[in-house]
Amino acid sequence: MKLIFVGPPGGGKGTQARLLQARRAIPQIATGDILREAIAQDTALGRDARRSMEAGELVPDAVMIAIVEERLRRPDAYEGFVLDGFPRTLPQAEALEETVNRMQRRIDRVVDFQIREEILIRRLSGRRVCQVGGHIYHLEYQPPREAGLCDIDHSPLYQRDDDRPEAIRRRMEVYQVETLPVLDFYQARSVYAALDAEGEVEEVYDRLLAVVDRR
Ligand code: AP5
Repeated sequence: MKLIFVGPPGGGKGTQARLLQARRAIPQIATGDILREAIAQDTALGRDARRSMEAGELVPDAVMIAIVEERLRRPDAYEGFVLDGFPRTLPQAEALEETVNRMQRRIDRVVDFQIREEILIRRLSGRRVCQVGGHIYHLEYQPPREAGLCDIDHSPLYQRDDDRPEAIRRRMEVYQVETLPVLDFYQARSVYAALDAEGEVEEVYDRLLAVVDRR
């Protein structure tokens, strides 16, 4: 199954992609996680991406397209993947279409996570992420068993730099301007499916399965 998740910051894309990865063994390809890992390892990519990410701006298309093309060529992505956070501009969507055609593959579903802005802000301000595995928590909605520590690998939880109020505002604006045209691009194709992304995690997961498994 080859899926694309498109949605605003805090829409729950990462949370749902990780559930699909754990329960259906579909690899999650999260461009934000790839960039955060590059920053943590202080690579050239990480050093270039850091400032844009902290400010809530996008990393240049050419960089992101090259990363995703390379990632899609790895064997674990052959049978399926969830692209989480890519494409998020029209040039990225066009480049992905070309890549997928060249590889003679087909995207099965583009899932549009729909959620009201006031809910997003609550989700983002309470988010905490584990330093080692990137596991996602929320202080109120998905708290870890032990405060400040990941349930799975016991590493410390941190707040993302771009989850500060100014960066959240900027990410929302960027989403409206740069990413909504991506949804228009896919709406014209039969792969598009809207998802009501409000409600509890498991409720959203059930709705997601209904969308993904629909023939
Ligand atoms: P990225 O990491 O992709 O961030 P994003 O798209 O803004 O999405 P988020 O990770 O903030 O949210 P999410 O939808 O995954 O929500 P989550 O599941 O964590 O990108 C970061 C930056 O990298 C970008 O700003 C850009 O600079 C750069 N970048 C990345 N890709 C790029 C690209 N293609 N091109 C250019 N630049 C790129 O959930 C949020 C919180 O809500 C969590 O605390 C979670 O526990 C909680 N939660 C989730 N679901 C529920 C639920 N149903 N009920 C209650 N709480 C919930």
